[in-house]
Amino acid sequence: MNDYRLDLIHRPRRLRANENLREIVAEIDLRTRHLVQGHFVIPGSSEQQEISSMPGVSRYTADRLIPVVERDLANGVRAVMLFGVPDVKNPQATGALDADGEVPNAVRLLKTAFGDELTVMTDVCLCPYTDHGHCGFIEGEEVVNDSSVATLAQMAAVLAEAGADFVGPSDMMDGRISEIRHHLDDAGFERTSIIAYSAKYASAFYGPFRDAAGSSPSFGDRRSYQMDFRNSREAIREVLLDLEEGADVVMVKPALAYLDIIRAVREVSTVPVAAYNVSGEYAMVQLAVREGIAEERAMVLEVLGGIRRAGADLIITYHASRAAAEGWLS
Ligand code: PBG
Repeated sequence: MNDYRLDLIHRPRRLRANENLREIVAEIDLRTRHLVQGHFVIPGSSEQQEISSMPGVSRYTADRLIPVVERDLANGVRAVMLFGVPDVKNPQATGALDADGEVPNAVRLLKTAFGDELTVMTDVCLCPYTDHGHCGFIEGEEVVNDSSVATLAQMAAVLAEAGADFVGPSDMMDGRISEIRHHLDDAGFERTSIIAYSAKYASAFYGPFRDAAGSSPSFGDRRSYQMDFRNSREAIREVLLDLEEGADVVMVKPALAYLDIIRAVREVSTVPVAAYNVSGEYAMVQLAVREGIAEERAMVLEVLGGIRRAGADLIITYHASRAAAEGWLS
């Protein structure tokens, strides 16, 4: 008869009784300083194109990006990740090495405008620049590794030259971190950091991004270079290799179906861990909000908070602008 009284010595609800208490005992913080806003950059000037599969996100020309970033910065978002959406695509991905391309131009404008107040990260990958949409060069039906890596390293140097603080290789070729590091150092860019997309999975959640960036592969898929979602030990292997090769930050991507991977990487990584809350994850929330079946603020905070709790230091997310503008975070 006394059993239930014994059990009730333990009342976890005591610590949930009011807002102040909940604040005092909260285990993690989610702040604007943890967020990196992703942006799509198009060539030219004075243009903004809405992206239908990503409500609230647009492609901007470099000049139009400036005021957008300025407002985010004023709201506390200190970092951006830039993706190019070029006009020119060819088998050699020549656009990736164009020092006058849309991304180098945007980097120069942003760094001139905001200096060290803004950390500029740039995606390094060939898929927006190849006509076949794969992340490396093609021989027959194969995405070849080593020649792709050589060009990725050159692309990284072009971005570093433009002033990028971080280059972010997202191609998943083997050995690219070490090649990029050596190439950057040889070219005098030893101060440019590498945020490595270390554990990047072949994912259905990249759909809206490929629409936004026009980077869908024209044949096959990315499973011969991006990781299989059934594997976690392999993620650790990729992370350890990237650390050995010189990554300054390692990343897990996507985030929501991979929270266990974020946690596991957190346990082994000696550098900050980033997680990428990708386009499909963003679109699911936005479409649910649009349909009236989700409350945006609550859902965004829960999504980003969950990624933080899993162990991410940084979160690359398309929700950053709005979350900061609406004052959802401190
Ligand atoms: C380029 C790249 C992709 C993403 C980031 N860099 C697409 C892909 O690998 O197909 C996806 C980002 C997102 O979905 O938000 N390789």
